Amino acid sequence: MTKDKQYVALVTGATGGLGTQMVKRLMDDGYKVIANYRTASKADAWKEKMAAEGYEPDMYQADVSDYEQVGNMMEKIESEVGPIDILVNNAGITRDGSFRKMTFARWDQVLKSNLYSVFNCSRHVINSMVANGFGRIINISSVNGQRAQFGQANYSAAKAGMHGFTKTLAVEVAKKGVTVNTISPGYIATDMVMAVDEGVREQIVKGIPIGRLGGTEEIAHLVSFLASTEASFITGANYAINGGQHVY
Ligand code: CAA
Repeated sequence: MTKDKQYVALVTGATGGLGTQMVKRLMDDGYKVIANYRTASKADAWKEKMAAEGYEPDMYQADVSDYEQVGNMMEKIESEVGPIDILVNNAGITRDGSFRKMTFARWDQVLKSNLYSVFNCSRHVINSMVANGFGRIINISSVNGQRAQFGQANYSAAKAGMHGFTKTLAVEVAKKGVTVNTISPGYIATDMVMAVDEGVREQIVKGIPIGRLGGTEEIAHLVSFLASTEASFITGANYAINGGQHVY
């Protein structure tokens, strides 16, 4: 980050395991951080816990799967804080189940929350980034967008789609000072991963050459790196960060 300007960073799904750590890291780095959340009751408890640890990000509510809600949130942010320089599309959900049993609702919810959200948020910030000649869009995908995972046809499709989006948008705005990249975390110690059946999870950990789940701070470190002004020649990339679980 340059010293003469405090860049504004928006992290979607900030109250989750990865999002929380990203907010902390970006605040430690000196950014003005905005935490997006969906559920007020969860956000209240999160806000209190974060404040106790010395972190008081601005907080804005919107269900990122809803284009109109995102538009309203972005308008508010723009008028109350200013334009967003760094967007971390982190919000996501799982609705696992074998495809033979997968309902349309489970498909729809995952595609809307994990992929449409990327369109919804990016679409609302891209023109101001281009106008300002600076921007960072960081899409949080998954190792399971790169490899198969039994029970995640919906999630894998959404996460793979995210990187397709990254590549094209990266090329479209490459001359405008805006970079667009994907991070594909493997299995990280978050509530989302801990919700996987213990036996299944143990099997998965056995398949990770480093021999453990990843830490949220390890993902936040990569977000911090890609957000920096120094990362200006990196665009359209997909960073695997999975302990060696998937190498290609
Ligand atoms: N591998 C191979 N076969 C499997 C299997 C697996 N992992 N899981 C189930 N099966 C088989 C069953 O034995 C069964 O076989 P039969 O039809 O021959 O009896 C068949 O598939 C159907 O099994 P279920 O009825 O149990 O299937 P289900 O629809 O209830 O779902 C599941 C199974 C719970 C999704 C299970 O596969 C699972 O937990 N998978 C792991 C999902 C996972 O890793 N999620 C990651 C969440 S965290 C995250 O996503 C973060 C990130 O980015 C990494």
